[in-house]
Amino acid sequence: MSVEDQFPIKRVDHIEFYVGNAKQSAAYYRDGFGFLKTAYRGMETGDREVASYVMEQGHVRFVVSAATVRDHEIAHHAHKHGDGVAVIAMEVPDADYAYRFTTERGAEGVTPLQCLTDDHGEYRYSIIQGYGDTLFKFVDRSDYNGAFAPGYEQREVIEGKTHPGIGLASVDHIVGNVELGGMDKWVRFFEEVMGFSMLTHFDDDDISTEYSALMSKVVQDGTGKIKFPINEPAEGRRKSQIQEYLDYYGGPGVQHIAIITGDIISTVAAMRQRGIEFLQVPPTYYENLTERVGDIKEDIDRIADLNILVDRDEEGYLLQIFTKPIEDIPTIFFEIIQRHGSRGFGVGNFKALFEAIEQEQALRGNL
Ligand code: FE2
Repeated sequence: MSVEDQFPIKRVDHIEFYVGNAKQSAAYYRDGFGFLKTAYRGMETGDREVASYVMEQGHVRFVVSAATVRDHEIAHHAHKHGDGVAVIAMEVPDADYAYRFTTERGAEGVTPLQCLTDDHGEYRYSIIQGYGDTLFKFVDRSDYNGAFAPGYEQREVIEGKTHPGIGLASVDHIVGNVELGGMDKWVRFFEEVMGFSMLTHFDDDDISTEYSALMSKVVQDGTGKIKFPINEPAEGRRKSQIQEYLDYYGGPGVQHIAIITGDIISTVAAMRQRGIEFLQVPPTYYENLTERVGDIKEDIDRIADLNILVDRDEEGYLLQIFTKPIEDIPTIFFEIIQRHGSRGFGVGNFKALFEAIEQEQALRGNL
């Protein structure tokens, strides 16, 4: 039996951000991204140390957490990294098995199986160390039917199966930036410890621009549903965008989260209207676009208006767009992606995209 069959992962259960002010972060994801606040813990629910808001849309679930006391790991994380992804939680059939399976294969254990209970049943989880200070959490909620987890109280109720919001449907991939020389180590971690396999890789030839080079490898789980690209900086004439991230984040961490939409035009139009800022490629990108990518279903004028990027490979095409970093420091950002057959990452857009990133780096005085 191959490793991937031995270690099944159902889906990304949630992504938890440690932030400086969870109330304001929750409002940002509600107002800017259309999430619904479905659960909460904090002083009002009896938690004296942490305030957390669970934000849901489609099958995407974010948790934003802040410490309400000064000497707390969440406060230390926020001080060291700014707001950032602290926990990537994956739903598994058995959290105890997942912990033993991964730690036996070399993962650093953080929290062995924990079983939390309340009136809604039993919620089980375990935690191993991921890249940098990022934690990988295994969650088994098969015997739990509460709002999120014990300790949380329900807030807004989802009508129907999921909250449609502005069309954000599920997590497509979660990208980690690691230190120079760390990419292969983390690819091996995913292969050997988690049973993932390498899907594709990009090197200098694909993606170096004049200044901002990086190397990237993509690993995925056995189902192909969960993809973790890993970037490391490469030598360029000037500072790599990955090195800029590492400098400001204070080490390795999540660079961007890509979220699938079924209708990128309406999703991005809604986000722009809600004040979310995106990277801007030059208008010349849209000259000869159809010659480069062939016919697409979407209206090219609308695509150009919204500054959405298009790429095609043997399997089909994809549309994608990237937000600017969501904080004052150039660390985490989001990608919105719609796939029409293509399972790629938009390699044809890397040059235009990285030039746009470098323009922003130059504005920040970091190129
Ligand atoms: Fe991406």
